[in-house]
Amino acid sequence: MIKKINMNIPTCKAASYPVLIGDDLLKRLTWMPKDYSQIVVITDHKVKKYYADNLVKLLIIKGYKVLLLSFSSGEKYKNIRTKNRLEEQMLKCVCDRNTLILALGGGVVGDLAGFTAATYMRGIAYIQIPTTLLAMVDSSIGGKTGIDTPQGKNLIGAYWQPKAVIADIACLRTLPKKHLINGLIEALKAFLIRDAKSFSYLQNNMDAILQGDVKILGHMVEKAARIKIDVVQKDEKDNHLRAILNFGHTIGHALELVSNYKILHGHAVAYGILVEAKIAELMGILSPKNFLIIEGILNQLHFMSKDLKKWDVNKIIQATTLDKKAKKGMINYILLKDIGAVYQYKNTYAHMVSDKTVKKAFLAISGARSYAR
Ligand SMILES: NC(=O)c1ccc[n+]([C@@H]2O[C@H](COP(=O)([O-])OP(=O)(O)OC[C@H]3O[C@@H](n4cnc5c(N)ncnc54)[C@H](O)[C@@H]3O)[C@@H](O)[C@H]2O)c1
Repeated sequence: MIKKINMNIPTCKAASYPVLIGDDLLKRLTWMPKDYSQIVVITDHKVKKYYADNLVKLLIIKGYKVLLLSFSSGEKYKNIRTKNRLEEQMLKCVCDRNTLILALGGGVVGDLAGFTAATYMRGIAYIQIPTTLLAMVDSSIGGKTGIDTPQGKNLIGAYWQPKAVIADIACLRTLPKKHLINGLIEALKAFLIRDAKSFSYLQNNMDAILQGDVKILGHMVEKAARIKIDVVQKDEKDNHLRAILNFGHTIGHALELVSNYKILHGHAVAYGILVEAKIAELMGILSPKNFLIIEGILNQLHFMSKDLKKWDVNKIIQATTLDKKAKKGMINYILLKDIGAVYQYKNTYAHMVSDKTVKKAFLAISGARSYAR
C-alpha cells in the first residue's frame, strides 16, 4: 500500500509536494513526472549497484532520456569537489533548465544532489528518493541541502524543496543494521518530542523492526515522516518550532565533533538523547520514571549509559559551543517534558542550561566519579 502525505509550504504554494511511502515504488514508476527534457540520476557507488542501474533501465524503457552520475559513498565525499564534478558532467551533457535530478541514496546523496539542483542554472527540479532509514524519516524531508567543508558539516547549502519524496521501504532490506539503527534513533527522537503512541509502537515492535520487517518499518517511517512534515510546514526556515527536531542533537553534535566524526550521527544522537533527557530530569521537567523508560529503550539498542564514561565531559561541553546552532555563545537545549512532548516556556522551545547542569547530567548517567579536568 502506498501512503501519500502532502507537504504544504505556506510561504510558497509552488513549493508544496507529495511524500510517498510504500513498497517497491522504484519498480512502479507511476510517480515519475513526464514533462522534463532530461533525467539525471545522482547516486553513490553502493546504491548504484543495488538500485540505480535498475532504475535507469526502467526509465529508459519508459522512454526517458537518462544520465546516471555516481560518486564514492560516504560523508567525506559530500564536498565541493564532488559537486563541481557532477555539475561539469551535467554541463558536458548539455542538461538544460528543464532537467530533473533524481537524488537516489542516503542523506549524503540527498544533501549533495539537492544542493546541486539548487544551484544548477540558478535552480532546477529534483526528487528525493531516500534509500536509508535516516533519509526516509529525516534528511529527505524539509528542503535543507548542503555540503561539508574542512571547517564543519553542512556549512554551505541552501533551502531548496524537492518536487516529491519517494520512500521505497523495500530498499531497507539491503541496509546494514548499523545504518538501520542510525535512522531508528531519528524516528525515536521524533516520537519522543511529538508522539507518545508511536513511541509505544516502537517499543512493542522493536524486534520486528531490527529484523527489517518491511510492513512495520513502513508504518514507523510514515509516523516519523508525518512529524517532520508537520514541523517543517509550520517553520520551513528553522526560526522557532523546527528547533524541537534538535532534541538530543546538542550533545549528539558535540560527540560527533570530539570523535572526529568516527561515530555515526544517529548513534551520537542516541547518547545525546540520554544526556539531554537526564538534564530535563535534573531540572524537574521530566519524571525519573520517564527517564528510565527512555534509558531502557536505548539500552535495548545497545547504547549503554556507562559508555559515556569514555568521553571527557569538559571536551564535550567545549564542543557544544562550536555547534553552528549555538547563538551568541549561548547553548540552548530542547528539554523533554513527557514522552511525546517538549517543554515550552513563553513560546520558546530552546532553553539555556548551565554547563554545571550538563556536567551533572553527564556524570550521573555515566557513573563517572568526578569531573574530568
Ligand atoms: N538535510 C537534512 O535535513 C539532513 C538531516 C539529517 C541528516 N542529514 C545528512 O545526512 C547524511 C547522513 O545520511 P545517511 O545516514 O543516510 O548516510 P549515507 O548517505 O552515507 O548512507 C549510509 C551508507 O549506506 C549506504 N546505503 C544507502 N542506502 C542503502 C541501501 N538501501 N542498502 C544498502 N546500503 C545503502 C550508502 O552507500 C552509505 O554507505 C549526513 O551527511 C547528514 O548531514 C541531512
